[in-house]
This record gives sequence, C-alpha cells and structure tokens, in this order.
Amino acid sequence: MFRQDFLWGGATAANQFEGAWDVDGKGPSIPDVCTDGTRERSKLFTRTVKPEYRYPSHEASDFYHHYKEDIALLAEMGYKCFRMSINWSRIFPTGMEEMPNEAGLAFYDSVFDECKKYGIEPLVTLSHYEMPLALGLEKNGWLSRETIEHFMRYVRTVFDRYQNKVRYWITFNEINAGQMPIGDIISTGMVKDYEGPIDGITHTETERYQALHHQFVASARTVRLAHQKYPQFQVGNMLTFIVSYPINCDPENVVLAQRYMQNMNWYCSDVQVKGAYPYYATAMWRDKDINLSITAKDLDDLKNGTVDFMTFSYYMSICVGREGEKDKVSGNLTGGFKNPYLETSDWGWQIDPVGIRYALNAAYDRYHVPLMIVENGLGAIDTVEDDGSIHDTYRIDYMRKHIAQMRLAVEDGVDLMGYTNWGCIDLVSLTTGEMRKRYGQVFVDKYDDGTGTLERRRKDSFYWYSNVIRTNGAEL
Ligand code: BG6
Repeated sequence: MFRQDFLWGGATAANQFEGAWDVDGKGPSIPDVCTDGTRERSKLFTRTVKPEYRYPSHEASDFYHHYKEDIALLAEMGYKCFRMSINWSRIFPTGMEEMPNEAGLAFYDSVFDECKKYGIEPLVTLSHYEMPLALGLEKNGWLSRETIEHFMRYVRTVFDRYQNKVRYWITFNEINAGQMPIGDIISTGMVKDYEGPIDGITHTETERYQALHHQFVASARTVRLAHQKYPQFQVGNMLTFIVSYPINCDPENVVLAQRYMQNMNWYCSDVQVKGAYPYYATAMWRDKDINLSITAKDLDDLKNGTVDFMTFSYYMSICVGREGEKDKVSGNLTGGFKNPYLETSDWGWQIDPVGIRYALNAAYDRYHVPLMIVENGLGAIDTVEDDGSIHDTYRIDYMRKHIAQMRLAVEDGVDLMGYTNWGCIDLVSLTTGEMRKRYGQVFVDKYDDGTGTLERRRKDSFYWYSNVIRTNGAEL
C-alpha cells in the first residue's frame, strides 16, 4: 500500500501553463519565441516575436490570472502536492540582472500562500524547459560556463525568498533531454546563432554534453546550497525515464538495450544521485568523439551535491535493436522500435503500464533513494458534450493501469514518495505546442487557434482521481 504521507497530485510547467508572458516585468524566455506546431509540423524558434506566427506560451492556460480558482480545484480533488515551476525570466528578466524583479517574486508568494491555505505541498522545479531568452541569444545558454553563475543567483534568490513556503525542489526538468538534439533549444538553450525548427540538429555532441555538464554542476551546487543553508529542504533530480526493451532475445540486441538504458537514463542519474560520472562514460565519450572540459572543482561539486530523492517522468517504453527494418514509433523526445504487445496513443506514444513498475524497480535497485513519479498521463483529444460534461474514460483507463503498476512496485519494496500526473489542468503541449493534446482532469476552454473563454470544467477523471486520492490508491 502507498505510504500514509503519499504525495498525490498533479504537475505543470510555467511556460506551458502560466501565460502572462510579458506582464509585471517578466522578460521573454526561449519558449516565448517558439511557435505552435503539430505532430507533423515542428514548432519554430524565431528569435523574436513575429506577427505572422502564433506563440502558445503567451497566454497558455493563463494560470497567472486564474491561480486561485485553479488551486481551489486541485484542493477539491484532495491534492496533497502541486508540482509547478518558477519562470526564471519572471524573476530575472534577462537572467543577468543583479537584482530580482519584485513583482515576479510576489506572484509566486501568492501561489504558495494559496497552496498552504489548502494544505497542498508545492514541489517546485527550478528550471522546466525555460530560460531567459537573452541568456540563450547572448551566451548560448548552458554551453557557457557563465550561465552557472546566473542560475545560482536565481536559485539563491528563490531559496531565500521561499524558504518558509516550499520544502520540495527539483533542479532541472528531464535533464537527460540535454543529450538529445531536441534538447539543444528546449533544455540547454543553445540558440545563439540559430533560427528554425526546434528539432533541427544544431550542435556537436561535444557541445551538447558540455552544456549538460554545466547543468550537472549547477544542479549539484544547488543541492549543496540547500543542505548547507536550508536543512528543511529536500532536493531531487528529474529524468525522462526511457524504458528500453530489446526488440527480441538476440543477445546482441539485449546488450544494445542495456547500453541504451545506460546512456539515456543512468548517465544522468548516476551523476546526480551517486555524485560521479559512471564507469562507461569514458567509453561513450570516446565512441561519440566527445571532449569535455571538466575541472577538479566540478568533480568535487558533483560529489558533494547528490540529491535527496530521484524523480522521473514516465510516459512510454521503446524497443531497441539492430534490425533497421522494424517499424518505428515516436515518443516524448525520443522514439524507437514498435513493440507488438503495446497500443499507442493518438500521438503515437506506446502505452506501457508495466513499464512503470519496471522503471521504479530498476531505479530503486540502483540507488536506494526515495523515488517519485512527477509526470505521467495520456495526451488525448477531449470532447465537451452538450451538457458540458467530458467523458474521458480513456484517460481514467490509462491512469488506473499505471497507478496499479505503481502499487505493485510499492509491494515489491520500492520506496515511492508520490505521484503527480502531468498537465492536471489542461495546458500547452511541449513537443507540438498544441492545446488539443490534453492531459488534465480539468478542461480549459482554449483552442489551437487561440480562441476560448479559458473557463475551467471538471472532466470525469476529476471525480475518479479524487476518489483515488481519498482512498490513498486503494480504489482504482
Ligand atoms: C515531458 C515534459 O517531456 O512531457 C513536459 O516534461 C511535457 O513539459 C510532457 O509537456 C508531455 O509532452 P507533450 O509533448 O505531450 O506536451
């Protein structure tokens, strides 16, 4: 059974949810110059706001002006925890100022106060696929070592300000995205000389892994600061956990799948949970022709900045193998071979509830630290009936099966702290920029053409999830 203090809740990210992109002193962030897209048409990074495009982050779900109503809805569902992120460019508009923007800080004060009113624990991501645009354009984002200092100023500011309001923190969202071409823009912000599709390959592997290394150092320093100055804090890391099965039992494919798990998952979590690069990193750098600049001080920081708990998103699994002719499937950030035993979502992501049990056991087996699933859910098109109801049985089915497998993992002995489903209140899709790809228990009246009243409606999954929380997962 789940722990009595299990953190049931939902998750959001500032740039996909808040809107108010240029309000109260907020500076533009990288997502603010990323256009909308679809499954077939990539979002574009346009460097400036251009009148011929639509930019979904500008209004998004307008949490900025709806936070009271939204948090009341989460409370009505019985939420114990609300995962959200702070928009760095709301606090430091270009990322490089010496002094923070007071109006930005005051906004999050109000949000945390509202959570407190209902006994909801905020779980705050410091960097969720967003950084001030100026840092990207002028410094090339995380490729510059200087960015670590700018980030630490931001961290010191928010740690100090919210020390009595927030206990749980996550450093970087899905940090392993930095290893993938799509991460160049959305995660590491290396946009200095770039304009074009967000998945256009723009950097060398050395640049990619160097930027990621700087994030590791910043993450470790953040954890260290928390441990030294704010003993009440608990700081976690965050991966997109990509469960990789061998496409068949050909031993060569089994080794390839193992290699994939090492390179795409454990590479990052070993650094953040164990405090050092894994033994196979050297071989991986050699094979990919990667040459990194890593100082002795960096290694010391990594060693002394290991996280208190590990979190990950789990949406799907893929198959890995050397048989090039197999069917491919897409996924959140990366794809692989199609698994004949699994169905896919409308966006082609394989649905694999058992994979969440596998992932939890694999991570716990390796690290023995508390784990938390901080994203999971089904992106689907919802229909509002004439009477205003929304019968999202497919979403309930998805969540029920995943939570049941989480329960089995807990029975296996895994120490699971909580579960926050993704996009609990409908928000903009990261990969496609669409609004019609909805994850929430709360529907937001907002559409891809920018129309909509922004009114909130309870879906059937709202009532179902409320009961799951009320019974601490006993009734699914
Ligand atoms: C995760 C991200 O990769 O997946 C979220 O952390 C994102 O920001 C979520 O929204 C779902 O992906 P998408 O593309 O369906 O929004």
